[in-house]
Amino acid sequence: MNTPSLRETARAMVAPGKGILAMDESTPTCGKRLEAVGVENTEENRIAYRSLLLGTPGLGDYISGAILYDETLRQQSAEGVSFPQLLQQQGIMPGIKVDTGAKELALHAGEKVTEGLDGLRERLEEYRGFGARFCKWRAVITIGEFKPSIACLQANAHALARYAALCQEAGLVPIVEPEVLINGAHTLETSYDVTVETQRRVFDQLYRQDVDFAGMVLKPSMVISGTDCPQRAPMEEVAEQTLRCLQQTVPAAVPGIAFLSGGQGDEEATRHLNAMNLLARERALPWRLTFSFARALQNPALKIWQGEPANLDPARKALLARARLNALASSGEYNE
Ligand code: 13P
Repeated sequence: MNTPSLRETARAMVAPGKGILAMDESTPTCGKRLEAVGVENTEENRIAYRSLLLGTPGLGDYISGAILYDETLRQQSAEGVSFPQLLQQQGIMPGIKVDTGAKELALHAGEKVTEGLDGLRERLEEYRGFGARFCKWRAVITIGEFKPSIACLQANAHALARYAALCQEAGLVPIVEPEVLINGAHTLETSYDVTVETQRRVFDQLYRQDVDFAGMVLKPSMVISGTDCPQRAPMEEVAEQTLRCLQQTVPAAVPGIAFLSGGQGDEEATRHLNAMNLLARERALPWRLTFSFARALQNPALKIWQGEPANLDPARKALLARARLNALASSGEYNE
């Protein structure tokens, strides 16, 4: 069997009518999600929850790839099938989060830089051995008084580009995720300015590191008002300004843009994605616009499950419903 090229894999990740399931929560973050529904953060419960997600019949109809966390790639599902195998059975490509987290940026209180470059080449080899086809690295940009600093933007853009180059060298597609956080009282205009500046620096660094734009996927946040903004901009404005930002920053060679949900409500994220695809269709934009949601796909299922085996089927139905609706939104065909 021929190994698909980087570019083929990147295109398959953003195939029409499909998106990406982000389920790469680190053990502490997964714990927060589980504890919010009264489930203890044990390995057994994490396996049970991730088996629920990946064992959902029909998931592969809407999901091209799933981003896993290191421990999940090495575990077996509750039914005794390895998680990468379970994914293969569903026709879903396995991906892996490879950064080691956002840490405090020295001399810049309240700002973060994502770490994980040391030893990454060796880890990528190992992940390939487990069947991973793509990777993810998330940079976090905070909006606030005097934030983001140039130091923060530049350190994160540089790290993202070095990560992306290492991935491509290893034959893995990098998902490049610069997340401008929704937290704060900022307006949509500020979100626009910060997101343009962030993405410009990211693509500049990707170019300088010789990353092939056709063999990567961008995972940005939407241009959106902060959660504490007194007057939050409407859906049409989010769609319009997010597209304007992408047009100012993203090369046409990038095959697809897979948005994060970033704490938006699940229906809100779906409506925004749909609105962007309606506009993108009119304007014949060059990239596929789809989703790589974690919370906006998982939350309804998690709330129904609550760790009870008896709730497995309704929880899976809820996940499949969100996956289907987001798949529709990724083609501008969501109208519920
Ligand atoms: P959310 O969709 O919950 O923002 O998560 C996406 C993700 O993968 C963050 O890194």
